[in-house]
Amino acid sequence: MDHFDYKNGRICAESVPLAHIAKAVGTPFYCYATATIERHYRVFSQALEGLDSTICYAVKANGNTAVIRTLARLGAGADVVSGGELKRALVAGVPHDKIVFSGVAKTREEMAAALDAGVMQINVESEAELAILNQVAVARGVQAPVAIRVNPDVDAGTHEKITTGRTEHKFGIEWTRVHQVYAEAAAMPGIRTSGVAVHIGSQITDLEPFRAAFIKVRDLVAMLRADGHAIGRIDLGGGLGIPYGEAGANGSVPTPEAYGKMVKEVVGDLGCHVLVEPGRVIVGNAGILVAKIVYIKEGSTRTFVIVDAAMNDLIRPTLYNAYHAIVPVAEPPADAAWKEVDVVGPVCETGDTFGSQRKLPPLEAGDLLAFRTAGAYGAVQASVYNSRSLVPEVLVRDGAFAVVRERIDTDDILARETFPDWMD
Ligand code: LLP
Repeated sequence: MDHFDYKNGRICAESVPLAHIAKAVGTPFYCYATATIERHYRVFSQALEGLDSTICYAVKANGNTAVIRTLARLGAGADVVSGGELKRALVAGVPHDKIVFSGVAKTREEMAAALDAGVMQINVESEAELAILNQVAVARGVQAPVAIRVNPDVDAGTHEKITTGRTEHKFGIEWTRVHQVYAEAAAMPGIRTSGVAVHIGSQITDLEPFRAAFIKVRDLVAMLRADGHAIGRIDLGGGLGIPYGEAGANGSVPTPEAYGKMVKEVVGDLGCHVLVEPGRVIVGNAGILVAKIVYIKEGSTRTFVIVDAAMNDLIRPTLYNAYHAIVPVAEPPADAAWKEVDVVGPVCETGDTFGSQRKLPPLEAGDLLAFRTAGAYGAVQASVYNSRSLVPEVLVRDGAFAVVRERIDTDDILARETFPDWMD
């Protein structure tokens, strides 16, 4: 249930017709439904009920401050991976002591910002990073609250570009080095190591890789405690997959309930505070991208439906071969003659294709199409390639909508570009 349904012949976001928003805001635009964001957060937190846990929403999935604030108001913490995301989380109202700072290459400046903000935890991913964090903390007269992100060498079975838990990946401390690194950390005056962190990838549609990784974490906690380290917190990362298919043909993904049950089974009796960092499962289905058809181009072998959104607005299809369901905003009549078309954007690359051979009803220029399940890794990965505008974002709640990020157009960007003196 995503709160983007046909009502009176047109898709509404909650009770706002998308066509109304298109008229007011122009196309393309992202639209998020508050009800879906809230529902997914609640379902996820219910799944963890009984466990001493904090949900640190992965800001990278959708960093819009109004989206983050929606979650913060429900009690969510945040997982951030840059100084920019840290700022966003704080501006959105996430309490500093519910923020986890992850990422493989935190700079001194980012570390300082995180320490000054008083974040709950900094996840360290290399010995080099640990040494620098120690220096930064000592210089400030504080101890950095650290979890070591370990690389469990588990294959998440997801797309090669978003799998992170194997030894050949850049993430985390290699399994064989873990004991050594905890020992080094314990000797550093600016480091207070209290946790173990793991994250094996994203869009994971099977619980077994999670289970395998979490069992390794559980065993590691026991060993580290035996070594004398006080481990009070584990961070299990994000990664739970969601269905991207057409309604009714979704393929199967584990439910948050099943995920929560497994987490409790594996780590429930460790006596640790458990952090989770879900992104996609919270916001993925809570957003859609709405575009307008510019032209229909009939070829000898294909019909191209050319829309005004492009790969710069939603890069997932071309970057990960991702499937996003494409639906007409106006409900087609029951007797419509559906046919296969290619839905493409205006960018000068063949990769600018949202869907090949998709069944759609008769369409014409000016009609609106919606790309579903675009709430996660959609707007955040948008660019201005081809000097297109940065796509605006709209948040709906019940019958109201608000532009929560304006369209940033070429004039805005040109205002930041200058000619060097020698061109005068
Ligand atoms: N925690 C860490 C340390 C992460 O690296 C990530 C995602 C998450 C949590 C959240 O994972 P989620 O629950 O959203 O799966 N752009 C790609 C996805 C990249 C994911 C990167 N890390 C896509 O569009 O599929």
